Amino acid sequence: MSTDNHKSKNVFASKVGAILAAAGSAVGLGNVWRFPTETGEHGGAAFILIYVVFMLLLGVPIMVTEFAIGRHGNSDVTGAFQKMSGGRGGWKWMGLLPVVSGFLVLSYYAVVAGWTLYYAFEALMNGFAGKTSTDFVADFTAFSSDSAQPVFWTALIIAITCGIVALGVQKGIERGSKIMMPMLFIFIVVLVGCSLSLPNANLGLKFLFQPDFSKVNSTVILSAMGQAFFSLSVGLGCLCTYACYFRKDVDLMKDGLSVAGIDTLVALLSGLIIFPAVCSIPGLQPDAGPSLVFITLPNVFQQVFGNVPVLAYLFSLIFYLLLVMAALTSSISMLEMSAAYFHKKLRLPRPMAAVIVSAVCLILSMFCSWSFGAWKDITIFGMGFFDLFDFLVAKLIMPVGGMLMCIFLGWVVDEKVLRAEMTNNGTLRSPLYPTYRFIIRYFAPVCIILIFANELGLFNFIF
Ligand code: ALA
Repeated sequence: MSTDNHKSKNVFASKVGAILAAAGSAVGLGNVWRFPTETGEHGGAAFILIYVVFMLLLGVPIMVTEFAIGRHGNSDVTGAFQKMSGGRGGWKWMGLLPVVSGFLVLSYYAVVAGWTLYYAFEALMNGFAGKTSTDFVADFTAFSSDSAQPVFWTALIIAITCGIVALGVQKGIERGSKIMMPMLFIFIVVLVGCSLSLPNANLGLKFLFQPDFSKVNSTVILSAMGQAFFSLSVGLGCLCTYACYFRKDVDLMKDGLSVAGIDTLVALLSGLIIFPAVCSIPGLQPDAGPSLVFITLPNVFQQVFGNVPVLAYLFSLIFYLLLVMAALTSSISMLEMSAAYFHKKLRLPRPMAAVIVSAVCLILSMFCSWSFGAWKDITIFGMGFFDLFDFLVAKLIMPVGGMLMCIFLGWVVDEKVLRAEMTNNGTLRSPLYPTYRFIIRYFAPVCIILIFANELGLFNFIF
C-alpha cells in the first residue's frame, strides 16, 4: 500500500464529512439531556443567553484552537504538540490529554448512553403503556441501581461504538456521522412539530425564550460555562483528534462556527421538544433535574398522547432513538481519542486498538454504573465513581485542557504557524483572526482562571 493511499484513508473524504463528524462529536446527550436539565434547573432563557455568550467567546475559539493543533499534527495529536512546541517546556506531554480524557469521559458517558438504549428498547416493546408517574420513578430507580441490567446496555453501546471505530476514519466515523446526523435532524423536527401542537405549548416557549435575569447568580454563570464546554466537547482533545483527519483546504474558523451553530440549534430544538411537552401537563415543573428525561418525559408522553396510544408509542420511540443516536455520534469520538493513540503510536491494528480501549472503558463504566446501586457508599473525595468521573471531565479537564491549549497556541507556538493554519497558508482571508488571537492569548485564560478561583472560593468576584 502506498503512503498516499494510506494517508487518504486517514482523512475525512469530504468537507461535509468533516463538519458532520465534528458536529456529531459535539451533539450528544449534552444537547438532548444535559441542556434541558441545566436550563430547567437554572431558570430558562437567562441561562440560555449566558450559555450562548460563553459558546461564542470561549467555546468556539477553543474549538478552533483544537482544530489548528490537530490538523497541524497531520494524523497524530502527540506528534502535533511535539512538532509545534519544538520540544520546549514539556508541552509534548499535552499530547497524552486525549488518551487520558478519552478513557475517563467514555467510561461514564456510556452509562447514560446505555440507559438511553434501554429506554429505546422499552419504547419499542411498548413498555411505557399504561404506567403512572409512580411507576416511572420506581422503574428508573430499580433499573439504574441494578448491578447487571444497566451494565448490559452500557456494554452494548460500547460494542456498537467499537464496531464503528474499528471500521476506520472514512468507512466508520465519517460514514456513521453522515447517516446518523441527518436522521437525528429529521427526528428532532418531527418531535418539535408534535410538541408545539400541544395545549399550553406557549408556557414552554415562555420558559425557554423569556429571560428572567433576577435568577442569574454565580451558579448559573458557572453552569452555563460548563454546559458550553461539555456541549462542544472542548478541552478534552477530542476535536484535536478529529482535526487530524481534516483536509488541508478546510476553513477552520468557518467549521468551528458551523459546528457551534449546529450544536446550539440541536440544544434549542431539544428544549422545544421537552418544555412544551412538560408544560402541557398541569403540575409538572421543567426543573426536575437529571431525571427529567428518564422519569418525567416518558410519563409526559403517556399522558399527553394518552387518548391516541399509537402517538404515545411513536413519540416515545422516536425520542429515545434520537437520544441513542446523539449519544453514539459522541461516544465514537470519545473512543477514537484513545484508540487512535494505540493504533498510531503503538502500531496496533485499528480493530485491536478499539477493542482494547473498549474493554478498559467497560470495566471503568461498571464502577460508574454500580455507584448508583451496590457501590453507592464507596466514595472518593465525597463522590461516587460516576460523579467523580463527571467532575474530573467537566469541571477539571475541560476548562484546564482548554486553557492550556489556548496558552500553547497563543504564546508558545510561533505566530507564523498559527496564522498559516488559520488562513490555510495564506489562501484564505480570515477577518476574525485578530479577535481570535486576542481571545486565546488573553481573554480565555484569564476568564477560566477567574472562574476557577471563584469556584475554589479563593476570590469571590461573582455573586
Ligand atoms: N459534546 C458531547 C455531548 O454533548 C459530550 O454530549
